[in-house]
Amino acid sequence: MTTNDVTLIATAAMGLETLVKSEVMDLGYTDVKSENGKITYKADYKGIARSNLWLRTADRVKLLTGEFNAYSFDELFEQTKALPWEDWLPEDAFIHVVGKSHKSTLYSVPDCQSIVKKAIVSRLQDQYKIYTNLEESGVRYKIEVAILKDKVTLTIDTTGAGLHKRGYRIEQGEAPLKQTLAASLVKLTNWTPDQPFVDPFTGSGTIAIEAALIGQNIAPGFNREFAAEEWEFLPPKMWDEALEEAEDLANYDQPLDIQGFDVDHRAIEMAQNNALEAGFADLIKWKQMNVKDFKPQTDVGYLVGNPPYGERLKDRPEVESIYKALGGIMKDYPKWSVYVMTSHEEFEKHYGTSASKKRKLFNGFIKTDYYQFFGKK
Ligand SMILES: C[S@@+](CC[C@H](N)C(=O)[O-])C[C@H]1O[C@@H](n2cnc3c(N)ncnc32)[C@H](O)[C@@H]1O
Repeated sequence: MTTNDVTLIATAAMGLETLVKSEVMDLGYTDVKSENGKITYKADYKGIARSNLWLRTADRVKLLTGEFNAYSFDELFEQTKALPWEDWLPEDAFIHVVGKSHKSTLYSVPDCQSIVKKAIVSRLQDQYKIYTNLEESGVRYKIEVAILKDKVTLTIDTTGAGLHKRGYRIEQGEAPLKQTLAASLVKLTNWTPDQPFVDPFTGSGTIAIEAALIGQNIAPGFNREFAAEEWEFLPPKMWDEALEEAEDLANYDQPLDIQGFDVDHRAIEMAQNNALEAGFADLIKWKQMNVKDFKPQTDVGYLVGNPPYGERLKDRPEVESIYKALGGIMKDYPKWSVYVMTSHEEFEKHYGTSASKKRKLFNGFIKTDYYQFFGKK
């Protein structure tokens, strides 16, 4: 181990762990472990910048500072205090502790938070030889104490606003997808950037914009900031190097055939504005269109959609007629691969075909299936 080594945890929404793990491995990190909702891996300092810049499907990246078992508040205090917090936090750090506890002896989260905070403050007072209260007037460090079956995991959040906040979505409609989920929907297909790509229910354009970012290999975090950029112990040049690497790897010359449609003209205006913000002025083609009028212009292609789900009973007949129309259209284009995410449990019945594969995904708190119909080769 050199002092430059860190252990990072990329958090993943339920069901997306394999995607996040493969993204971490694509970044070149090999010592990777995947558990429920978190991918733990070894990296160097620069890995903090690279992970935040590049991970499309993860929620955030945390720096692991300690792991131990604790069954009493004393044990929690002593083992937290034994960690070298002065390696990470300056003496004026603003220390914000959040917590969670599950199936553990120490179940009172507010108490655990306040003990962890006291232990860190006490450690810093000793190390920095401060005999009064800490001022906490500096950079904010969000520290998490997570306890699962009596095992305590302490982390510092490196990300800040969640990774889904790419910075381009200045406008959004009624039920926008998180950008991380939209990127996951694209990554779960076999689409390659040389193939046509259509989202016929584009709303604010999230899926199409994420496809364009993937298609041109643009780092999704390129236009935003991260909490760890303010950390003093990290060399500032690592951020510049990670940004330079992202600039070198972006393939702005990759031609793309990506289209987004929506029945609502206001959605199309929003999608256009968001795409402009993402830097794709003319790259994605937008059109106001009812999916019932969609007609693929090529033999082969990929359709990825997040249609209305019909959660309210009164919307069901309309939604079901949309599914039926889409199925009717796509059956004449057997070489197209179709991917639809919906919570409607009878989607396949209305679409008219059984999916090649289904995958359970959560859209926020809504349990959905991602229906995948593979095109004929
Ligand atoms: C769940 S939203 C999609 C949200 C989108 N993925 C986003 O991130 O903003 C469903 C979209 O389908 C559109 N829609 C509803 N009926 C449609 C139809 N018949 N044809 C095309 N679009 C339709 C709605 O206007 C809405 O924007």
